[in-house]
Amino acid sequence: MEDYLEFNRRRWDESVGIHVNSETGFYRLAEFRAGEDILGPIESSEIGDVAGKRALHLQCHFGLDTLCLARRGAHATGYDFSSEAIAAARALSDETGIAATFVEGDVYTAPSRIDGAFDMVYVTWGAINWLPDIVRWAEVVAHFLAPGGMLYLLESHPAALALDQDEAGRLVPSFPYFHGSEPIIMEETETYTGDTVKLTNAKSYEWIHPLSAIINGLVGAGLTIDFLNEHSRIAWPMFPCMVEAGRGMYELPPEVPSLPLAFSLKASFPS
Ligand SMILES: C[S@@+](CC[C@H](N)C(=O)[O-])C[C@H]1O[C@@H](n2cnc3c(N)ncnc32)[C@H](O)[C@@H]1O
Repeated sequence: MEDYLEFNRRRWDESVGIHVNSETGFYRLAEFRAGEDILGPIESSEIGDVAGKRALHLQCHFGLDTLCLARRGAHATGYDFSSEAIAAARALSDETGIAATFVEGDVYTAPSRIDGAFDMVYVTWGAINWLPDIVRWAEVVAHFLAPGGMLYLLESHPAALALDQDEAGRLVPSFPYFHGSEPIIMEETETYTGDTVKLTNAKSYEWIHPLSAIINGLVGAGLTIDFLNEHSRIAWPMFPCMVEAGRGMYELPPEVPSLPLAFSLKASFPS
């Protein structure tokens, strides 16, 4: 495998500027700057009260959710391997006066870059698909959890990630659900925000982690699963046929039988 980390990092460094300056309103930055709590509807209803909690947001991108958690009273730390993302997150923190800590680095090196334990590790939307080893990821999560602490994970459903829309508009199996350690190599010249700016770093490496691998990884790392939910809405138009479902969410049109598009889970570390 070529150096997946470098390809992915270059793609993300380039994406940050497009996302921060997005003309589609995808990230709801204007609402955030105006003081609105823009955490999505699923995570809002599932994370509970975070006030006073130490929260670690892994793969925080340019820090929007990290700052939303901080606005809700959490002592929030955001972590991401993109220097552009971390710079943009710090700038947004300074601009809005919402205090949070931002640290740069690869997920797997986080234990050597961040000190201390956390009451919550928060990972959402489009994060674990960039990581080759879900067992090592679960170990990193467990490393940071204080006794009684919890992981909140909200992600695209791996069964949906294995599908794509064909030219006739049907959703068909297109990527292997069980593909082991070999990455899926993608070439996409635009990001998911709907902006038409072209990426020069089009190539990326991704992994589909089966639901069982994610859950068994967490259990193997010593966590207990408190809930697992499946959702028919997702935070971006995963397939061209999808329709807006309100509050920044998308769903399949009524003529398509329902499918799990996302899942969320809470897992906790013994007290
Ligand atoms: C789709 S974004 C996640 C967005 C997130 N839901 C949020 O709160 O905005 C994926 C993020 O993962 C980061 N990333 C990808 N691979 C990584 C790695 N190996 N280590 C750390 N961050 C990584 C990217 O830089 C990017 O910011």
